[in-house]
Amino acid sequence: MDNILLINIGSLSGILSPAVQKKSGAEMAQMESIENAWLSIKNGLIDDFGSMHNFNSVRTETLETIDCTGRFVLPCFVDSHTHLVFAQTREEEFVMRINGKSYEEIAEAGGGILNSAKRLAAMSEDELFNAAKIRLAELISYGTGGIEIKSGYGLSVENELKMLRVIKRLKEVSPIPIKATFLGAHAFPLAYKQNHAGYIDLIIKQMLPQIVAENLADYMDVFCDQGFFTCEETDTLLQAAAKLGLKAKIHGNELGYTGGVQTAVKNNALSVDHLEYTGQEEIDCLLNSETMPVALPGCSFFLGIPYAPVRKMIDAGLPVCLASDFNPGSTPNGRMGFVVSLACTQMKLTPEEAINATSINGAYAIELSKELGSITKGKLANVVITKPMDSLAIIPYYFGVDQVEKTIISGKVFNKNNF
Ligand code: NIG
Ligand code: FE
Repeated sequence: MDNILLINIGSLSGILSPAVQKKSGAEMAQMESIENAWLSIKNGLIDDFGSMHNFNSVRTETLETIDCTGRFVLPCFVDSHTHLVFAQTREEEFVMRINGKSYEEIAEAGGGILNSAKRLAAMSEDELFNAAKIRLAELISYGTGGIEIKSGYGLSVENELKMLRVIKRLKEVSPIPIKATFLGAHAFPLAYKQNHAGYIDLIIKQMLPQIVAENLADYMDVFCDQGFFTCEETDTLLQAAAKLGLKAKIHGNELGYTGGVQTAVKNNALSVDHLEYTGQEEIDCLLNSETMPVALPGCSFFLGIPYAPVRKMIDAGLPVCLASDFNPGSTPNGRMGFVVSLACTQMKLTPEEAINATSINGAYAIELSKELGSITKGKLANVVITKPMDSLAIIPYYFGVDQVEKTIISGKVFNKNNF
């Protein structure tokens, strides 16, 4: 069943040539599409597509035909930043924030990431795996066709490895590509609060070698921000990871102008994520780099912090990627359709820019541009069939309501109940 023919597609959008790995600046507003189109999928890959006017009805070797009249067919979202593996929700902290405490105050008092770490330590690998698998299935049904998942709620050798093993098991069963990121440097555990060098040593000498030996991570991430890891500490950690072949990602500039962007660029990071505090200096620094800026509007929405100035960044010629940041503390939501809505309503991106930021640029941020992120012959057939709609703008317009009717993954209609 991984051969499908989609016909009478109202608009086949997000078509790109294989050479395009990401979109920057003014290119982000462009959305290549064919109206009244067909798309054939063979062996799970995009085989061919075109206008119904030139449709050759001899194409009957396909096993299944789906009539997409009035609908858009788009590449699946690629969510390049999530913390999908976690123990429990943290709604009590949410209520504390409603009552006036800040995210940083809660973290300082042992809540936040440390709270998640305490709960995760008490859960078995199987329990974590089962809960994350259900979340993954939900996200695929909302249109996500490629995803990155971070560790970072372990904060000990045993529990970071446990998280990464859960992600490895998810990779084995997942119908969509998953990239794993080691985020042991997410926060300093209580025992190391006064001994930062000791924790950094633990990461470098004990966690990293074992992670690499077991092939548990594709990337290394550090929360480089005020109250968390300094730029110098981040440098040390990323250099150690690079020696072992792990490319860098950074959580940076969420809580202040703290040099996260500069540290990311200096370490040739694949991406620098959050960016709520980004000024001209940071933009200039990114313009001279291959590092993808990733904004996480769901986090700004939920924490009530500023939105990353992505309008300014795109106008300056930068590429911009948007991701969910799905996690129990700052963003308990992984719906990429909502990310697109926030991008348009709060960050003033056009629907086309927001879709490019969540598809091809998402794929770039996790090195999947060759496999995902656009309608391109030979790429994985991970595509979304929308509900009937006349315009792409309907996706952000109906905020909070997903416009996905079917998610097709490697040429199969995804059914979360069979996963
Ligand atoms: O990306 N900012 C750092 N880490 C996560 C939140 C982690 C948490 O609060 O559990 C984020 O927002
Ligand atoms: Fe995050």
